[in-house]
Amino acid sequence: MDIEFVRSRFIKHFDGQTGHVYASPGRINLIGEHTDYNGGFVFPGAVDKGIMAEMRPNGTESTIRAYSIDLKDRVDFDFHDGVGPRASWARYIYGMALEMEKLGVPVKGFNIAFAGDVPLGAGMSSSAAMESCFGCGLNDLFGENKVSKWDIVLAGQATEHNYCGVNCGIMDQFASVFGKAGKLMRLDCRSREFEYFPFNPEGYKLVLINSCVKHELAGSPYNDRRNSCENVVRHIAAKHPEGKFETLRDCTWEQLEEVRAEVGEEDYTRAHFVLGEKDRVLAVCDALVAGDYETVGKKMYETHYGLSKEYDVSCEELDFLNDIAKECGVTGSRIMGGGFGGCTINLVKDELYESFVKTACQKYFEKFNRAAKVYDVVISDGSRKLC
Ligand code: GLA
Repeated sequence: MDIEFVRSRFIKHFDGQTGHVYASPGRINLIGEHTDYNGGFVFPGAVDKGIMAEMRPNGTESTIRAYSIDLKDRVDFDFHDGVGPRASWARYIYGMALEMEKLGVPVKGFNIAFAGDVPLGAGMSSSAAMESCFGCGLNDLFGENKVSKWDIVLAGQATEHNYCGVNCGIMDQFASVFGKAGKLMRLDCRSREFEYFPFNPEGYKLVLINSCVKHELAGSPYNDRRNSCENVVRHIAAKHPEGKFETLRDCTWEQLEEVRAEVGEEDYTRAHFVLGEKDRVLAVCDALVAGDYETVGKKMYETHYGLSKEYDVSCEELDFLNDIAKECGVTGSRIMGGGFGGCTINLVKDELYESFVKTACQKYFEKFNRAAKVYDVVISDGSRKLC
């Protein structure tokens, strides 16, 4: 995907004039899944696939003329009509216009055409890439770039919550906005402090295998998982009126055991995964600093097990890909992102890479009669203006 491609479509679909072009990436996450909305740690990085949008004010008060180049779909709407567009892709534009306005940006009507090469439904956060790309554009076009990066992250999250029906955490928007080439980021989702970690494991590659089972978070059991976690926190807080319990991050293993019977096995097991995942992210950080990739990989397998058996967000196809990775001697492998489909992320020794990818694709096709897709991970920069 390049600027000229997006520009040619923008010119064709609107009045022949050019605007400014913005880009934002999708993300990977090495470890720390479903921890963000629990106040825990995540370890994402931006990738070299994302969304590119050309935007230009159109002189109207509040009419947005939007064109999805990939879907060849055009939607015009008034973002002040209190309803917004029905097309799900256009709701990200609608939501970001309103959320940026709430942040004090005097948003007016604009034209926008955009395209993406981050695979949809692969768990690589195409939606966060859209939000941060549109947020970056609106900030530049109407807001003199006064809105901070963190506020763009939060506007993206609010768009998901308020207009798209997904009560997500902040990992995806954070990674898309703050990403840096060659660096993963460890984010503490409670304090919002983060650190960049150079990630260039000598002798290993990170590769994603897309099951091509479409992961869809809206209206999905994703929100149920979040509710389970919040329920456990409420029970623990009620037992300990002296403490401050906002998320599972504030809860200990002992406190979780205390409420086991009252919250029931399902919520207990889900919370059990989250507490374990918090510890795993920290262990992975230590292992990375020590250059101990065997431990990193071991933790990735543990996360897969937890996501599959405790948090219950895997599916047959992802479990199968994980088993194959194990059989092939891959150092670490797990579901990446929200789950319910999408990709596995694999840490593979250079010398095993070719045979693993080949075997995984072959066996996957034999079993499910569906082709898996392979993406090499290139850790890249976050949201930016291209021209
Ligand atoms: C989705 C959400 C994120 C996060 C992950 C799971 O990608 O958007 O906020 O919760 O799932 O780690």
